[in-house]
Parts: sequence; structure tokens; C-alpha cells
Amino acid sequence: MRSGEGFGSSYGLQQTKEERKGMGAVHRSLRPLPGATVDRSPDSHDFLTDVLDGLSRPQKQLSPKYFYDDRGARLFEDICALDEYYIPSAETEIMVTHIDEMVGLLGEDVLLIEYGCGDCAKTRLLLDRLPSPAGFVPIDISSEQLHRVASDLESSYPGLEVMPVCADYTRYYTLPWPDRSFSRKVVYFPGSTVGNFDPLPARDFLDHICDTCASDGALLIGVDLRKDPAVLHRAYNDRDGVTAAFNLNILGRINRELSADFRLDGFEHYAFFNPSASRVEMHLVSMRDQDVHIGGVTVHFGVGESIWTESSYKYSIEGFKRLVSRTGFKVERVWTDERDWFSVQYLSSRGNP
Ligand code: AVJ
Repeated sequence: MRSGEGFGSSYGLQQTKEERKGMGAVHRSLRPLPGATVDRSPDSHDFLTDVLDGLSRPQKQLSPKYFYDDRGARLFEDICALDEYYIPSAETEIMVTHIDEMVGLLGEDVLLIEYGCGDCAKTRLLLDRLPSPAGFVPIDISSEQLHRVASDLESSYPGLEVMPVCADYTRYYTLPWPDRSFSRKVVYFPGSTVGNFDPLPARDFLDHICDTCASDGALLIGVDLRKDPAVLHRAYNDRDGVTAAFNLNILGRINRELSADFRLDGFEHYAFFNPSASRVEMHLVSMRDQDVHIGGVTVHFGVGESIWTESSYKYSIEGFKRLVSRTGFKVERVWTDERDWFSVQYLSSRGNP
């Protein structure tokens, strides 16, 4: 990670101090028309810059946020339906079991904000029970899916003000202001997406969320736990090859959007648990010596050389608490599933100085 930069290399974030200060700030002036989406999604120039930057490093890398074009978002929904991928079922089990206690802690009239909402499957569990939420702000990088989901939610929850924001939430964006007044801001960050960040950027990102929800706010977050590496191995190396297709799609997306000439059969999905770093690493390994052309630049791949596409950190409950203790949040409540494979945690914000 280059020093002084936002949330760091694992999420490919580059932003200025000024942008960071404004991130997530609620702007009264920025009021989308009903049903309109605030669109701050990365354009193809950002994408090309990030791709060329990542592929010019000694360990080539691409940010996992670029998995989620429309095809990638659908492939991720397919991953979530796999037996081997235990996260959605474990998290849903926790949500269903403890929903009453959760909504009790969140309280009435909250402004609910969700980072990386995807298909919003688990959010519905909250929206079904939350007492009179003042509004819902789903934020996602995948615009097609975000539009579908936002209009579905509007028909399922008449009277709920849904204010979608299409953005890379690791960069600059502004939060819309709801019509109704709200008691507090509550951020929902499920799925263990926090695991994509390296530990230092994760801490910075939690602090950014803390700034967003201010001193009386809260964060309800899904955190994947350390477990038998064989379970992790299966979860990221499914029999049907859906995870492999999801991983390879990032190269297909670069071909489609940046007119590059990656041969997808020249790369293989490679995922493993790295115990000393407590993370699953996903790579795409070049099967031969080859050159790829992207935006007028030639990138060489040696046989066996990899592009590191994702980290997925697995925390102990203690380890996550330690991380949180260095932020403006405090862990108030931890729920786990029957097997202790996953956790949902309620953090209250003390506010950052
Ligand atoms: C969405 C980041 C939580 O790390 O488990 C699933 C993404 N990658 N299979 C994860 C993913 C491969 C997922 N997160």
C-alpha cells in the first residue's frame, strides 16, 4: 500500500484528504428526485488507470470491487446459492434467530444505510421488522442490480423512502437526505465484505463509517470467522466452478470494457487459505508465457505468475474486537451461528474526535 492513501491497495483506493473528509457526508443540497439514483460509479478512465497500475506491480493485482459488473453481480448471486459457500446461510440463520433483539438495538425512525447491498436479500429481514425507518440508502457499485433492487424494495415497502446511491463507497460519494427526520444513522454492512480490506485499511474504513453515522450511530456488520481450512477451501473452490468463473470474469470485463485481449483459457482460478495472514487469497495464475494488450500497453505474464484478485480475511472474535477498539466504534453485541462459522456484530459509535 502506498502511504497516505485512503483505504489501501486491497481496495485500490486513491483519494485526496478533502475527498475523504467529505465522504459520506449528508448534503442537504444533494436531493435526488424520487426514484432517481445518485450515480458516482467509477468510469472507464478510473477502471483503466486502476488496471494498469495494478498490473504494473511486482505482484500483479486487481481490486475485488471490479468483480461486480452486471455479469459479476449475477455470478456472485450464484455463489451465494452454493452449498459450499456457507456465508449466506450462516448469516441468514443469525439474522432470523436474533432479529427481534437486533431491531430493538437499532431503534425507531432510523436512517438505514447499506454498503455493497448487492441483492439486498438480508436487508429485507431488517426492513420487515424495523419500527418505522425514516429511509433506506442502498449503496452499490453495480448499477443495473442496484436499480432492480431499489425498485423491488419500493414496491415491497410502500411508504419507505428508498434513496439508492451508485458509488464505489471506498471513494467519494454523498449521502442523500431523507424527507422524514430520523433518530440516528445506522449502517448495515453484511456478508463479511469488510474481509476484503487489509487490516489497516479495514480500520480506516470503519472509522469512515463512524464519521458517516456520527456519535449516536451504529453499525451492524457481518464478520466471517476463522475455521477449519478445509471448509474455507471448499467455499472458495466449489465443484461447479462458479467461483472460478466469477474470478475469471474480471478478465472478461477488462476485455469488454477496455478492449483488452486476455485469453481466459490462459489463466486459472487459484484460491487458498493463508493461515499466517488469516485470509483466503484468490489469484488468477497464468498458464503460460503470454502478452496481453490493454489500452495501448503490453503486459507480460510469465508461466505461473499470478494476479492477486481478492483477500478475504477471517477474524477471531477477539481479533475483530481488537481492530474495532482502534476505531470510534465499540463492540456491544456478537451473535454467531450454531457452528460458530460466522458472526453478526452490533457496534455503537462514540464518534471520532
Ligand atoms: C463478498 C467479499 C464477502 O470474500 O467471501 C466469494 C466474495 N469471493 N467467493 C468473500 C467472494 C469468492 C465474498 N465477499
